[in-house]
Amino acid sequence: MATVLDTVRAFFAHSSTFTIDAETPADVVARENLLDRAMGADRRKKSSEQIRRNRLPAEGLALVARDEDGHVIGTVRLWNVEAGITLEGQPIDALLLGPLAVDGAHEGKGIGGALMRTAITEAKNRGHGAVLLVGDAAYYERFGFFADKVRHLVMPGPFERARFLGLELKTGWLQDAAGMIVPSGRKLA
Ligand SMILES: CC(C)(COP(=O)(O)OP(=O)(O)OC[C@H]1O[C@@H](n2cnc3c(N)ncnc32)[C@H](O)[C@@H]1OP(=O)(O)O)[C@@H](O)C(=O)NCCC(=O)NCCS
Repeated sequence: MATVLDTVRAFFAHSSTFTIDAETPADVVARENLLDRAMGADRRKKSSEQIRRNRLPAEGLALVARDEDGHVIGTVRLWNVEAGITLEGQPIDALLLGPLAVDGAHEGKGIGGALMRTAITEAKNRGHGAVLLVGDAAYYERFGFFADKVRHLVMPGPFERARFLGLELKTGWLQDAAGMIVPSGRKLA
């Protein structure tokens, strides 16, 4: 993780307006406030939330963006899931990404993109095979997420097919994946 974050820090050093960092327990209140502002109170009713509820994020995959004073201005987390089963009936490990949000006062500075690229690189370095998410294809396609990768998968609850997207970190990982997304991560104590 440190290597990836150092790379991101160096890459954005010229602007020196934000850094990408691992989330700490001290960031939780600021992160939740940011999510309420960015996504509204209804955010907890989403199907993705059913997968996240009472779970911890995947190891090393809760990231924040900080301003120069260390305040949280962006957040992204990824969650362990089983993405359906293979043709042989074996569960397929994957990650569900979300929520991603950037403080409205800092939008359009590349912070969302930096969070996404750092998260994807870190997930790859940790050996994960694929990342799924529900979001605007027009935004996430730039990072390699496409609906056809998850065409035989379903979320556990209402979702818009065109907004359900997948990215393979290992070629062919989702090729025969079919079935429902279920949480598989560590449970909250
Ligand atoms: C979506 C979000 C995370 C983007 O963060 P950001 O730091 O502004 O993103 P970046 O600066 O890396 O990228 C900005 C680019 O993404 C585009 N973009 C932002 N949201 C978009 C969307 N929903 N659909 C298509 N493009 C989008 C911007 O127009 C901009 O395009 P440009 O580079 O051609 O000017 C941020 O706007 C946000 O938190 N929104 C509210 C929460 C939310 O909706 N999250 C889930 C996204 S589906």
